[in-house]
Amino acid sequence: MDAETRRGPVSGRTWAKLVGIVLAGSVVGIAIGLSLNWFPTQGSTIAHKIDTFWDVLLIVSVPIFAAVVTVVGFSVFRWRMRPGEEELDGPPIHGNTRLEVVWTTIPSVIIAALCAYAVVLLLDIQEAPAKGTRVVDVTGQQFAWTFQVEDEAGKPVASNRLVLPIGERVEFHVRSKDVLHDFWVPAFRLKVDAVPGITTKYSVVPNKLGRFDVVCAELCGLGHAFMRQYVNVVSPERYRTWLAANGAGKATGAVATGGGATTGAATGAIDGKQLFVAGKPATGAIACGACHTLKAAGTQAVTGPNLGAALKSDPVAAIRESIVNPNKEIATGYGKGIMPVNYGQTLSPAELDALATYIKKSVSG
Ligand code: CUA
Repeated sequence: MDAETRRGPVSGRTWAKLVGIVLAGSVVGIAIGLSLNWFPTQGSTIAHKIDTFWDVLLIVSVPIFAAVVTVVGFSVFRWRMRPGEEELDGPPIHGNTRLEVVWTTIPSVIIAALCAYAVVLLLDIQEAPAKGTRVVDVTGQQFAWTFQVEDEAGKPVASNRLVLPIGERVEFHVRSKDVLHDFWVPAFRLKVDAVPGITTKYSVVPNKLGRFDVVCAELCGLGHAFMRQYVNVVSPERYRTWLAANGAGKATGAVATGGGATTGAATGAIDGKQLFVAGKPATGAIACGACHTLKAAGTQAVTGPNLGAALKSDPVAAIRESIVNPNKEIATGYGKGIMPVNYGQTLSPAELDALATYIKKSVSG
């Protein structure tokens, strides 16, 4: 084929071949796309709708991808420069109005249709929840989530663990104490930003028993990747039991006295282990066990150092200081600025004493 022919129009047979390649590529691409298992378990009543939406996006996008790649590949091959053509100029082209109208209109129509689908879907799955829907207050904080619900008597139940009854609509009211976070339960297929100063919401009906990830989906600082917890979806009976066990101020621990007393008697009344394992959600004190492994407490998190190894030879006062001023001395291999620096405010002096005493006892025992 000489240069003149190559500059001529593409023949009908070549067009047919190109269309064939696009069709074959689309079929193979869609087949692969649909056979892949993209998502975790469907854990809510709307999950299948989101997954269907994904499939539709995939079916629409793959042929476009195949067409673009085919046209680009063909053009590169057919109109490539051969040896001796270095000085040759291309034909003078002044655009093609009809072609430009076509390739602007078609994508616009496709995008508009997909957007309409997305809006209708969102309105459908986020219908205003009925009055009396259980509200779960979700609070994001560097770097953990805390949750609060009301028990049957209307008393607040705070927890570091999200527990939900199966088959019942809940509405999350999401807030942030510091920076932007994003409350995401992949199994529910919904997420929303936690924005300081406002309350964002979404509602969902969990329909599968089990334990699912709760993830922060907004880069929020050094500990962002570790801002992961779990939601337990349980039967209504177990949920009521859990509410009763954690309600009426129990989650704030046996800390009835507080008041800053540091006498031995007051310290003895506070359950250091409880503070370690559950924190004190009412004041925003995140559980140590959410980030640290401590054999005696049965915690196995790896965000921060294993306390058995890190604090073994420290006296109680040094452990207390490490809780209040975590950045003063950092264990090898761990970074500054990850552990919350507010324990001096969220825990009373007596609670700090009890916690440090408990940790000391656990690591040297
Ligand atoms: Cu919180 Cu990322």
